[in-house]
Amino acid sequence: MRKPLIAGNWKMNNSIAESLALVERLKVLLKDSSGVEILIAPPFTALAVVRDAIRGSNIKLGAQNIFWKDSGAYTGEVSPLMIRDLGCEYVIIGHSERREYFKESDEVVNKKIGTALRNKLKAIVCVGETLKEREDNRTMQVIESQIKRGLEGISTSELRIVIAYEPVWAIGTGRNATPVQANEVHAYIRRLLSQIFSEDIASGIRILYGGSVKPSNSAELMSEKEIDGALVGGASLDADSFTQIVRSACMV
Ligand code: PGA
Repeated sequence: MRKPLIAGNWKMNNSIAESLALVERLKVLLKDSSGVEILIAPPFTALAVVRDAIRGSNIKLGAQNIFWKDSGAYTGEVSPLMIRDLGCEYVIIGHSERREYFKESDEVVNKKIGTALRNKLKAIVCVGETLKEREDNRTMQVIESQIKRGLEGISTSELRIVIAYEPVWAIGTGRNATPVQANEVHAYIRRLLSQIFSEDIASGIRILYGGSVKPSNSAELMSEKEIDGALVGGASLDADSFTQIVRSACMV
């Protein structure tokens, strides 16, 4: 039985004061939620205050990115050790915005996953096709390549990963994949994970859906067999919306 995970990716939003106000509200609204794991990924600048604010609550902390080295002359980068030091349990890796704007390749994603796992972090590995790739009927091919190259050489002994299927055309566009479309890709990802690792291991890995998840569509998405939670962008910036999405996962 996979426990659902609802993760809020705040992206490059919220000052320290705004982060604090949002997390204080979330703590109140979410305090009775059980049966679901709740995670927020604020910007680096707010991690320390948010960590202090969520102490003792049912909300976990994640970072949105890391570099693949533990330390050294890499101006402007943040290492896995640093975000662990800040109390992060999770890190998002390979988000499509990083792939697109910062040219992160599958090889870079692979290095980041490796270093995250070596440093005892849990990696949320994002994959997803563009609209053009979907229209060209290449969705499964793209997903297969991202999963296989991203997870190359990752050993089962340190496999603390969650996969997030996020079709690029659905991110921030208000246009979500239908539950059936998402479930189809999730089932395919699970088959790939079975081939790479084993059926047993694959059945324990959570696969989240991301891309315009909101209160009005989350219950339907969460009711799909292969959808084990959500990676939420825009709607995670509003405490009431994020809470409703968490609740929809509790009810499944
Ligand atoms: P969105 O973003 O919910 O705003 O579409 C999802 C994501 O990028 O993780």
